[in-house]
Amino acid sequence: VIDIRKLYAETGHFTYDPGFTSTGSCESQITYIDGDEGVLLHRGYAIDDLAEHSTFPEVCFLLLNNHLPTEAERTEFENILRRHSMVHEQLTKFYSGFRRDAHPMAIMCGVVGALSAFYHDSLDINDAVARKIAAHRLIAKMPTIAAMAYKYSMGQPFMYPRNDLSYAENFLYMTFGTPCEPFKVNPVLSKAMDKIFILHADHEQNASTSTVRLAGSSGANPFACIAAGIASLWGPAHGGANEAVLKMLEEIGSVDRIPEFVRRAKDKNDNFRLMGFGHRVYKNYDPRAQVMRQTCHEVLSELGIKDEPLLDIAMELEKIALSDEYFIEKKLYPNVDFYSGIILKAMGFPTSMFTVLFALARTVGWISQWKEMIEDPVQKIGRPRQLYTGQTKRPFVPLAERG
Ligand code: ACO
Repeated sequence: VIDIRKLYAETGHFTYDPGFTSTGSCESQITYIDGDEGVLLHRGYAIDDLAEHSTFPEVCFLLLNNHLPTEAERTEFENILRRHSMVHEQLTKFYSGFRRDAHPMAIMCGVVGALSAFYHDSLDINDAVARKIAAHRLIAKMPTIAAMAYKYSMGQPFMYPRNDLSYAENFLYMTFGTPCEPFKVNPVLSKAMDKIFILHADHEQNASTSTVRLAGSSGANPFACIAAGIASLWGPAHGGANEAVLKMLEEIGSVDRIPEFVRRAKDKNDNFRLMGFGHRVYKNYDPRAQVMRQTCHEVLSELGIKDEPLLDIAMELEKIALSDEYFIEKKLYPNVDFYSGIILKAMGFPTSMFTVLFALARTVGWISQWKEMIEDPVQKIGRPRQLYTGQTKRPFVPLAERG
């Protein structure tokens, strides 16, 4: 390992690494990925084991505390999340400032950033208790804030959280429930929702997590940092990919048009990419995609959806792409976003909410990484260098002489 700081101090040299493809920015004990083998571990536990055997609040506890909770710890943690699930009543007024057709991610960027204006007692980043409370508040309030973004777009009243429901059930209730009729939670759907949250909980130093860390490295408060992460996640090359996958499947429209789109994806003169394929780190099957595909079948079967043309297109696309030389050579496999859109659509979420759900689930990863950074004595303000390629010094030209 090269000691870059020493190298720079001694020689004035620095590494030029656009996209940070080979630059480590921190030490971390939270998430391990072996992209060649398709392995993803959180605090040492395999993602498929967590998805199969635990719940999202358990995974949140694990990411924050480095061990799976005992039964007593789990109960206490779930109660903490319930206690913090409401948002300040004044915050509900924030929504009415947005257009009804605003993208819910735009609302999320604004509202989550605005939490800094409400929870003054969690802003002191040097206070360990305040940091912990900020983490709990963010994890607990994200479902409420996300569901409110949806309700606002639908012109329906906001639903207050219900403390008798689980985390995933509560989110489905606040999203799809109305005050007019009792809401019945479908256990298969709430289990699927919980799994989707687990699969998105953390993924080490991706663009949004690095954004959170970079924002936090200047000492910015945790709510502002998470809002920065949400903005970064929004892009179609990152969390926006699940929305883009569904749009792409709709555009493909039928199985017989797949070869045309695969051809376009391989054409260097065409900007088109197969959304939901490829990953900076995984050069093998994304282990989350395997669980997601299984969950997709479970949800469609529970909902009695036998004929879902988008699923047919997705499965055929996967088959064709995985046997295509271009995709084999470049090691492009389906990623976590490939199947999630189909599940979410079947559950009744509009495409504009897909990335919101990703943000909701990733909040625990962001805040765990933020805490780890603040608690790491080695960390300093993130300040990349640049390779300047602009003009050399030149004389100022008065306005009258320019032309
Ligand atoms: N379709 C077609 N070709 C692709 C695709 C794709 N989806 N992804 C990568 N390639 C090609 C590139 O054109 C490039 O080819 P070249 O070497 O001939 O120039 C090569 O594979 C490497 O691609 P890069 O863009 O350099 O790889 P990078 O690691 O920077 O990008 C990324 C990874 C952004 C995920 C990319 O694969 C992509 O755009 N995928 C589609 C969007 C997507 O699904 N994003 C979700 C990522 S997962 C997540 O955020 C949860």
